[in-house]
Order: sequence, then structure tokens, then C-alpha cells
Amino acid sequence: MKKIPLILFGIGGVGRALVRQIVASRQTVAQRNQLQFNIVAVADSRQWLFAPAGFSDEALLALEAAKGAGQGLGADAADYALAADLVHAVHSAGVGQAIVVDVTAVAGMEPALNAALDAGDGVVLANKKALAGPWETAQRYFDNPAVRHESTVGGGQPVIATLRYLMDIRDTVFEISGQLSGTLGFLCQELDGERPFAEALAEAKARGYTEPDPREDLSGQDVMRKVLILARMAGWPLSADDIEVEALYPPEMAELGVNQFMAASPSLNAGLAARVAQAQAQGHVLRYVARVTKEGGKVGLTAVPRHSPTANLKYISFHTALYDDDPLLICGKGAGVEMTAGGVLGDLIGLGRELFQ
Ligand SMILES: NC(=O)c1ccc[n+]([C@@H]2O[C@H](COP(=O)([O-])OP(=O)(O)OC[C@H]3O[C@@H](n4cnc5c(N)ncnc54)[C@H](OP(=O)(O)O)[C@@H]3O)[C@@H](O)[C@H]2O)c1
Repeated sequence: MKKIPLILFGIGGVGRALVRQIVASRQTVAQRNQLQFNIVAVADSRQWLFAPAGFSDEALLALEAAKGAGQGLGADAADYALAADLVHAVHSAGVGQAIVVDVTAVAGMEPALNAALDAGDGVVLANKKALAGPWETAQRYFDNPAVRHESTVGGGQPVIATLRYLMDIRDTVFEISGQLSGTLGFLCQELDGERPFAEALAEAKARGYTEPDPREDLSGQDVMRKVLILARMAGWPLSADDIEVEALYPPEMAELGVNQFMAASPSLNAGLAARVAQAQAQGHVLRYVARVTKEGGKVGLTAVPRHSPTANLKYISFHTALYDDDPLLICGKGAGVEMTAGGVLGDLIGLGRELFQ
């Protein structure tokens, strides 16, 4: 049985679901893969907890519950400033080869990820930011057998695994497209029914479909990061500048507070309703579509045929040399912390099987 130490950065929605899944899947993972994951360190935005021998399942579930209740990591936790310090501390304590899991949503994790790779550790990411950073720093994480990131695109659907497979068999990818944001997909579907945008947005926010500041979704930046990750995996070293991004609000609304922004959002209704009407006049629907080729990408509102896969939030399409006349489609629900954490667990198992002797 391989016993694999894990260093967990982030214990929010996804991190907590991951902890629950690791505990609940122990027996199956051991039986099917002869693996046992041993969480030795956990960090949130302010503190870290480190136990060289690993935390018991009771301790992990108590931590999960405490974080779920809005508490901190507990009285034993130490303050920390640099994520890389935690990786170094774990290795200095003699814990062997480990896997670093980044389920934070922050930028600037590269020094910790690099420290892990330098030490021969594996890295599993649900956080897109390091992968979508400048190519000079991000390059190291692509085509790297020690790095997995299934949950960065498609929220757990096997989008990354499929692209990895296409690249492994030396297929040539021409174009990748789809709606890569569940939140924007929901909003577009609501607009179909001629619902005012601001009303649909308020409902999405109330249901927790959006980030606390909905502009994080509406800016298109998260979709841009996903497209960049897919492009880079396909062998196109694009940068953020190569992706044209349409935000669903004008620059002057960027400076407002969240409540002010929500109050001002009815000003967006008329413009969007006109675009929906224009699409419908052609027999199309308006969708927030991401499309990328080796030349660059485009992320924004597009009129697409009503019954095309692109009109359906569930599909991501790969147009390749092998799948030329009929694109390869991945179809399925791709949302929520459980599926995202499932993608992370799948990556941990994959790395455990392949990287650890
Ligand atoms: N939610 C989804 O359905 C979904 C789907 C696909 C991908 N993702 C990605 O998964 C990641 C996590 O999402 P989430 O929904 O779990 O976010 P979240 O609930 O905001 O949790 C983020 C966690 O990261 C911690 N954190 C912040 N800065 C940190 C730092 N410097 N070092 C260590 N931990 C730090 C936060 O600490 P505190 O607890 O102290 O705030 C929190 O525990 C994001 O990158 C997101 O884009 C999420």
C-alpha cells in the first residue's frame, strides 16, 4: 500500500468537499489502487496546521466542520505568510515525496508549486491562476507528468483528460469551443425567455450561482483562463492578450460597490435584450461562447444555432484531425463543489498510481 502525504492549500467549498471525499473513499481507493492519502498539512488564507504523521480522519472531519461553520483552523494553527514556506517545512520535517493540492482561488501560488516540483512532489490544481499566468512561469506546469488539473475546466467533467488523450495519440487539435461558465450559461438561458438581465442576475446571485461579486463571472476573465489552459494544453503557447474577452458590463461599472453594481444592473437590460432579439430573428440563441484556435481565442456573447451543441451548456467540442467532420463532444453537467473535488480526487489517484513507486 502506497501512503501518500498531501499538503492542502485551501479549505473552502472545494477543499472541504475534498476532505470529506478522501475520508469517505479510503476503503475503495485502497482496494482499487493500493493507495492511502495522508493529509499532513492544511492551510487557509491566514494559518496553517502541520502534523508530520498526518491527521486522523476524526481530526480532518472536525476541521472540515469548523471551516464550514466559518471558524479558523484552531488554536494549534500557526500564522503563515508564504505558501512555499509550508512546503519547505513539510520536507524539512522528513516527510517524503508528497502531493501539493491548490484548491485556493488566489494568484501567487507559483513559488509553492515550484518548491513542490523541485522536491519531486506531485501538484494537483483546481485553481486556474498559476496555469493561466504568464507563459514563462506557467510553461513548467504543462506537459509535466507531475502536474494534474482536471477540475480547472469543466468542473470535473473529463475535459482535461480528453485533451490529454488527444495530445498523447498525436491528434491535431484545430479548435476547442463551448460554454465554459455555468453561471453565464444560466444567465443566457434566462435571457432566451425574454427575462430582463438584471432580474436573472439577481436570482443567480441569490441562489449562490455567482461569485459574491458577480462581476467576477460577468467579466469573462475566468472563462478566459479556462480557454488559455485548453490552448496551452493543445500546444499553443498563447497569452491572455491573445484572447479577446467581452465583459457583460461597461468599464464605468467596474468601480462600483457590489450593492451599487446590482442596483445599477437594470441599465444593462435593454442592450442585452436587443442582442437576444437580433439572434432570435436569425433563428439563433445568444450564448456566452468560448472558442480558441492556435491563432488565438474569443470569449463573449455569440449568436449560435438553437439546436447546435454550442447552444447547450452541457457540451464542450473538440474539432481535430481525427474528429474532423464530426467534432468530439464531451457532454454532462459540470458544476458544483462535489464534482470539482471529485476531479481533484481523481487526479490524486492518477498521480499516486503513476508518480509514486
Ligand atoms: N466552486 C466550484 O464549483 C469550482 C469549480 C471549478 C473550479 N473551482 C476552483 O476551485 C478553487 C477553490 O474554489 P472554492 O469554491 O473552494 O473557493 P473558496 O470557497 O473561496 O475557498 C478558497 C479557500 O482558499 C483559502 N485561501 C485563500 N488564500 C490562501 C492562501 N494564500 N493559502 C492557502 N489557502 C488560501 C481560503 O481561506 P479562508 O478559508 O481563510 O478564506 C479558502 O479556504 C478556485 O480556484 C475555483 O476557481 C471551483
